[in-house]
Amino acid sequence: MMILGIETSCDETAAAVVRDGRTLLSHVVWSQVETHAAFGGVVPELASRAHIEKIGPIVEKALSDAGCLPKDLDGIAVTRGPGLVGSLLVGIHVAKGLAAGLELPFLGVNHLESHLYSIVLEDPAPQPPLAALLVSGGHTLLARVSQWGEYEIFAETRDDAAGEAFDKVAKLLGLPYPGGPRIDSMTASFQGEPVVFPRARMKDGSADLSFSGLKTAVLYHVKALREDPTEEQIQAIVAGFQQAVVSMLVTGAMDLCEQTGLKRLLLAGGVACNRGLRSALQQAGSRQGVELFVPRPFLCTDNAAMTAALGSRLLREGMRSTWDMDVEPNWALGDRE
Ligand code: KG4
Ligand code: ZN
Repeated sequence: MMILGIETSCDETAAAVVRDGRTLLSHVVWSQVETHAAFGGVVPELASRAHIEKIGPIVEKALSDAGCLPKDLDGIAVTRGPGLVGSLLVGIHVAKGLAAGLELPFLGVNHLESHLYSIVLEDPAPQPPLAALLVSGGHTLLARVSQWGEYEIFAETRDDAAGEAFDKVAKLLGLPYPGGPRIDSMTASFQGEPVVFPRARMKDGSADLSFSGLKTAVLYHVKALREDPTEEQIQAIVAGFQQAVVSMLVTGAMDLCEQTGLKRLLLAGGVACNRGLRSALQQAGSRQGVELFVPRPFLCTDNAAMTAALGSRLLREGMRSTWDMDVEPNWALGDRE
């Protein structure tokens, strides 16, 4: 079974071909970083326009890299939400157009579920039940994956997503967009003492997370310097910020494992590329007898391979979308249509 995946939920235009649910034949991602860099964040209208320009050639390249012709496809999977309305619309219309022209079944899939399901493209792929930490630019949540398709949310962020916090802190320090990868590499090469920032815990005892207070603490720290921070001071700030985010995420993930008794932890989403987070979870996990599973970095950031993989599973189970399928910009993990 050969499935084409299409992903345009935010600022990456992506297409991929997956065979038999787990074999990745091709994956192409065109990142719009340069389109948005001057604005320090994603501009939705520019994102939709860039998707319209790029999606045709990206789909063609995914097919040719996979050595397959449109007639070889058995179905099409597309991200239906959550994401930016205009960006999602481009993807679902292309998917519908291709499905109509090629007389193929198609399915709109959940982007958050796709992030978690990306691990299926790795070998060995852990089987649920799993504990999961999903950290991206738009979402941050801890969940129990009882089985694929069945998710119990344990905690969520009450304000900014972890990736969003990385990007905002980078912006306030004048670092280029997207801030996450830049803060990661600055921290990795920093030898000095990181600034110590507070780790937020919910007053009501909930396991939920919050990153906006940390972001404000960074802002106050910078203001208190009175002069523009030096390169060395910026490094100490970003290293301290990353340390605080990592510590909050590791505490949350380990609490989830402890409370559920789960011994396998899945880390997914763009922030899962962060080297500090990966190694801290690895260490905390091994102390607690928890095995960590993280997809390769290209499967953590937005891509269509995960969309095609999840679509393969669901199309094989008989799920189909109909022509009136619309985008679901706020589609929660685990919510069925
Ligand atoms: O999953 P993703 O590609 O898109 C969404 O679905 O949101 O995640 C993008 C987010 C951005 O906020 C980016 O700064 C962050 O992931 N990110 C990182 C790293 N690589 C990407 N954050 C920290 N460290 C990284 N190495
Ligand atoms: Zn994503």
